[in-house]
Order: sequence, then C-alpha cells, then structure tokens
Amino acid sequence: ISGARMYHERVIDHYERPRNVGSLPKTDPNVGTGLVGAPACGDVMKLQIRVDEDGIISDVKFKTFGCGSAIASSSYMTERVKGLSLLEAGKIKNTEIAKELALPPVKLHCSMLAEDAIRSAIRDYEQKRASLPASKQKSK
Ligand code: FES
Ligand code: FES
Repeated sequence: ISGARMYHERVIDHYERPRNVGSLPKTDPNVGTGLVGAPACGDVMKLQIRVDEDGIISDVKFKTFGCGSAIASSSYMTERVKGLSLLEAGKIKNTEIAKELALPPVKLHCSMLAEDAIRSAIRDYEQKRASLPASKQKSK
C-alpha cells in the first residue's frame, strides 16, 4: 500500500492546488490575523480574514508552513468561511474539516490548526475593532 493511497483525493486536490494562498495587509482595520502553531509538530499557520461592513467575511488568505494535511486544512477552511458571519465562522470545528478531507487520526491536529487559526483571526479582528475610537466603530 502506497502512502498516498491513505489520503483522500480531496486532500490531494487542496494540497496540489491550495486556494487563497497569500496575505492581507495586517494593519488594515478590517483585517483580522490569526497566527497559530501546533505543539505536536511545530508547524505554523497564518490565516487572515477581511470583514465587510455587514460583518461578513469577504476575503480570506493563508500561509501554512507545515505538512500537506495542514495546507489542505487551511485551504479548505478559507473556502468554507468566505461569505460567513464571524459567528458562523467561529463555530467551524476541526472534526468537520477532518471528515471532509478524510484525514487519518494521526493528522487530526493538522485540522485543529485551521480551527485555531480562524478563531484567532476573529479574535484579532474583534480586538482591533474594540480599540478603534467609538466614532469609527460599526453600529449594530
Ligand atoms: Fe511537521 Fe507535520 S510534523 S509537518
Ligand atoms: Fe503537524 Fe500536520 S500540522 S503534522
């Protein structure tokens, strides 16, 4: 059995053609940046969201220094959260990613990285908004 056969073709596809690789301007007040690491292996993922005036995620970019499953997980996550509200995006579980990409149990922590990264990006965005002068904050 070749190692590649253990991976689902959807993983391979996200691995070979990762979506939304890149960066958004970190200092943009509408951009939230999440930077997280996996203690299990030392891999690192950066995931950024741009949030529009309605609180909807309009753009997402990532850079992952890690294994194929981590890259596939972040790529999947960027497609999954585009167009969602922050609340919806914050509810996405790594188990969903792992299931979608058919990750084997030893690769579960790779999908955890993507869950941590989106949460961290949302937190960063919310902290940024909270520190803006009241006049610049969105009215709800
Ligand atoms: Fe580092 Fe997964 S152990 S790439
Ligand atoms: Fe560590 Fe995949 S993120 S092995």
